[in-house]
Amino acid sequence: MKAYSHEIHEYDVVVVGAGGSGLRATLGMAEQGLKTACITKVFPTRSHTVAAQGGIAASLGNMGPDHWQWHMYDTVKGSDWLGDTDAMEYLAREAPKAVYELEHYGVPFSRTEKGEIYQRPFGGHTTEFGDGPPVQRTCAAADRTGHAILHTLYGQSLKQNAEFYIEYFAVDLIMAEDGRCQGVVCWKLDDGSFHVFNSKMVVLATGGYGRAYFSATSAHTCTGDGGGMIARAGLPLQDMEFVQFHPTGIYGSGCLITEGARGEGGYLTNSEGERFMERYAPHYKDLAPRDYVSRCMTMEIREGRGAGKSGDHIHLNLSHLPEDALAERLPGISESAKIFAGVDVTKEPIPVLPTVHYNMGGIPTNYWGEVLSPKPENPNEIVPGLMAVGEAGCASVHGANRLGSNSLIDLVVFGRAAAIKAGEVVDSSSSNPELNKLSIDQAFDRFDNLRYAKGEIPTADLRLQMQKTMQEDAAVFRTSETLANGVKKMNKIASDVKDLSVTDRSLVWNSDLMETLELTNLMPNALSTIWGAEARKESRGAHAHEDFASRDDEKWRVHTIARFSDNANSIDLSYRPVIKEPLSSEEQGGISLEKIAPKERTF
Ligand code: FUM
Repeated sequence: MKAYSHEIHEYDVVVVGAGGSGLRATLGMAEQGLKTACITKVFPTRSHTVAAQGGIAASLGNMGPDHWQWHMYDTVKGSDWLGDTDAMEYLAREAPKAVYELEHYGVPFSRTEKGEIYQRPFGGHTTEFGDGPPVQRTCAAADRTGHAILHTLYGQSLKQNAEFYIEYFAVDLIMAEDGRCQGVVCWKLDDGSFHVFNSKMVVLATGGYGRAYFSATSAHTCTGDGGGMIARAGLPLQDMEFVQFHPTGIYGSGCLITEGARGEGGYLTNSEGERFMERYAPHYKDLAPRDYVSRCMTMEIREGRGAGKSGDHIHLNLSHLPEDALAERLPGISESAKIFAGVDVTKEPIPVLPTVHYNMGGIPTNYWGEVLSPKPENPNEIVPGLMAVGEAGCASVHGANRLGSNSLIDLVVFGRAAAIKAGEVVDSSSSNPELNKLSIDQAFDRFDNLRYAKGEIPTADLRLQMQKTMQEDAAVFRTSETLANGVKKMNKIASDVKDLSVTDRSLVWNSDLMETLELTNLMPNALSTIWGAEARKESRGAHAHEDFASRDDEKWRVHTIARFSDNANSIDLSYRPVIKEPLSSEEQGGISLEKIAPKERTF
């Protein structure tokens, strides 16, 4: 085994990742006096949350009547009945509180005439338990809401004396022999030193793995690092087959055009200039949920009504909106459309295409963010010392399909919940137990093997093979054939990791090695996605299986649990029941079981 000299740091809590959920958790931990470190591979305000545009959902009711129960119902329906009901209730109930906290921390929300937080319509958010018109529930800071939240939370965390370790790459978790998580091994990118963090609680807030695909709205840093560490620790991932395609990525670059554009009155057209969503979703039209709109767009293209010379995209029209509304509410996307599509939104439509945007699956947790390692005898078994929040985690609040603007609220509600729980379970007066040396050695060994990898395949080549395979074979629509092919191809690609070639052996700003580590994180995420998708013989939410076109609640209203075997490069699949009980009964002000019972999703 190769030993690397390292510095040891001791904390009550270490948060890995400084996006919205990581910063909200860091802030909440530090506010309670827990000695808290936040480790991040990029500068905090460059985390991918900065790219979140349209807003954050909460039933404030500033623009008309709204209730958390309506928000909960929409989330249940949006999830296509795969979300855990307790977590969905917690999200909807706590959302207003979490948004007002953000306001008080200083997030510069857009305002109504009355000076209240401005809220816009977003897909799938409705009134009257899905029977009424769309609701304006999405709180916005123009179309730069993530940017505003991230900067505010970073400032507040510094104020509470949280300590930041910036441009530190987390290599692997340190696991004790009894299964408790004890900390994390890190590589400092700018000077090549190594750091071992010993902490009573590790919180993984590492974001999604959009970069397993070729075209994604996700930043290049979204490489599923938390999922990779979890898989190597022998812990499972959940519901990975559910990958969200955002209807409006800019054709070509994949850059996001917010759903807020349709919320503000934008609409989609095909090559015939037809507002085709009126045909598919007569009630909610362009504001139907994302999985549905993405499928409708794909069908239009397939049936020969795609726009452009090659008939391979759709048009998003904004030019009918007043110029001052575009400037005030949608300045960011007006600029992106100009830069990435050469389009002046006041005059021309934006060419768009469904683009990978979000991972509903991730590290299984309960609604306090505690990581689960489900066993047949106990599907809700907790891994001590380990939490996961944000897109890295799977609470599971989005089930098979997330509603737009339910991501930012997930980040802050569950980042905050993790801090509340850590306040209860972390004893800051006790000393940290001795670390498991074998686990640290294994992390360094893996690092060293990759650093000196002398195979035949450059990292970028293998990554591209993975991205193209996932893009083709685990797409908006899937068939038994594409999925079986995808599994075969991905197994081969994953086994080629042992033949990687890394040419730079240095330790300072070695992007070749960092991208290789990231690729080894993407790989178990991608494998679990395609294996889980191949096994699920139904259509639900974002998993649209053409050979099994209906939802099968009898057999498949279960979470997929995927465990990765490093030696065999294979995935062991099992299933965990969906939590169907809400937290509160109807008498306590909650929603009745009858109201949230599964039914057909129509729009
Ligand atoms: O369309 C958007 O602004 C994205 C929001 C989201 O994914 O929640």
